[in-house]
Amino acid sequence: MTGCCDPRGYEATFTPRFARRLARRYRRRGLDRLTAKVVRRCVDHGIEGATVLEIGGGVGELHLELLRRGAATATNLELVGTYERDAAELLAEAGMTGRVRRRLLDLAADPAAVEPADVVVLNRVVCCYPDLSGLLGAAAGRARRLLVLTYPRSNPFTRGLMAVENGVTALLGRPYRAFVRPPAEILAVLRAHGLEPAGSENGAIWCLTAATPVSAAAPRPA
Ligand SMILES: C[S@@+](CC[C@H](N)C(=O)[O-])C[C@H]1O[C@@H](n2cnc3c(N)ncnc32)[C@H](O)[C@@H]1O
Repeated sequence: MTGCCDPRGYEATFTPRFARRLARRYRRRGLDRLTAKVVRRCVDHGIEGATVLEIGGGVGELHLELLRRGAATATNLELVGTYERDAAELLAEAGMTGRVRRRLLDLAADPAAVEPADVVVLNRVVCCYPDLSGLLGAAAGRARRLLVLTYPRSNPFTRGLMAVENGVTALLGRPYRAFVRPPAEILAVLRAHGLEPAGSENGAIWCLTAATPVSAAAPRPA
């Protein structure tokens, strides 16, 4: 792989130090507000006994909390190995090591390698990958009951913020880039893969969209 999909490009941004900081913050303060919203959405939809697929889950606090709330098992896909040590520690502390499979795999590059799951989550991930339709389309194709994703709001402020962030990473010689996606583009990818929006929340910086398969959302005939 080359360019910004090269794991080496991501490792310079999502470093072991970054991972350690995420794990420390979660131990001290629990979930951040956005991640807590994702968990609430999933729980409201029903996750008892569900299988979870998290893409780009970092140290894994999101799927760990879904497991605490009744999900059966989780698979996490990551591009980089820098989170593994902290993720393993958090899992061991929670006594959940056997319920989570962690894989280093780019879903967009190899969708057939990943089994579908009841619930698919991408928290702050589509903004970190250049091929939106490849990644989100593959994720949507693997969601049996629910997909929840979060992404930066598309407005001049977030676009300016990303431009500054991308300028700094370019100056540092790192290939990683962040992206602000128009919501219409996100919805088009979901719909093209058989999902319909099932609720959204817009914060000052982040948006959350939930979507369900059309077949699951359709009313049953009388
Ligand atoms: C901003 S971090 C978010 C981490 C975590 N979800 C959170 O909210 O704290 C984005 C993560 O997505 C991962 N990522 C981006 N594209 C991916 C892909 N195609 N497959 C798997 N992971 C991916 C990156 O490696 C990075 O760890």
